[in-house]
Amino acid sequence: MTRPRRIKVRTSSAEETKRLGRLLGGGLKIGDVVLFAAELGAGKTTFVQGVVSRWGIHREALSPTFILAETIPARVPIHHLDFYRLSKKEVLSAGLDDYLAGGGVIPKGVVLIEWADRCPEIWPVDYLLVKIKISNKKGEREIELIPHGPRAEKILGLLRDSMRVR
Ligand SMILES: Nc1ncnc2c1ncn2[C@@H]1O[C@H](COP(=O)(O)OP(=O)(O)OP(=O)(O)O)[C@@H](O)[C@H]1O
Ligand SMILES: [Mg+2]
Repeated sequence: MTRPRRIKVRTSSAEETKRLGRLLGGGLKIGDVVLFAAELGAGKTTFVQGVVSRWGIHREALSPTFILAETIPARVPIHHLDFYRLSKKEVLSAGLDDYLAGGGVIPKGVVLIEWADRCPEIWPVDYLLVKIKISNKKGEREIELIPHGPRAEKILGLLRDSMRVR
């Protein structure tokens, strides 16, 4: 079996990370799931800002007050979740997996989850994992995008294409 190809990118500013998010956002569609695993302050929200800017939504601070989840009313709903303040038990009992399934009152959309590594139990079968490492130099980040499943591989293919033509 061939190993799915990952993309590793180094960014040297928040703007560059946003740009990468924006490029990724161009290839996302309803049902896609992007999971973030990174240390505190690495740039997850910054990356998400880039993704949603692709959908015509520009927010300097993406609702810093939201606790668990907010749905951004873009052309398709973008569910932005953050598990930071939650224990695994709370994630499991809060019905947050409904966001992945688009269940009940929650419309199906694109799902982006910060601190997703807090609760691997609800990860779907197909997802794109984004790892961000703070490099020692100020403002430098190492961003690794790892596809799990055919749809995530397709998303990375689209990202590769758009990085080439940039
Ligand atoms: N290359 C870079 N990419 C992203 N952010 C950067 C970069 N260089 C510096 N920064 C700064 O690092 C901070 C990242 O904050 P951000 O809220 O995006 O992180 P986070 O991973 O979401 O944090 P938290 O763990 O609290 O959710 C911002 O202040 C941003 O300006
Ligand atoms: Mg954040």
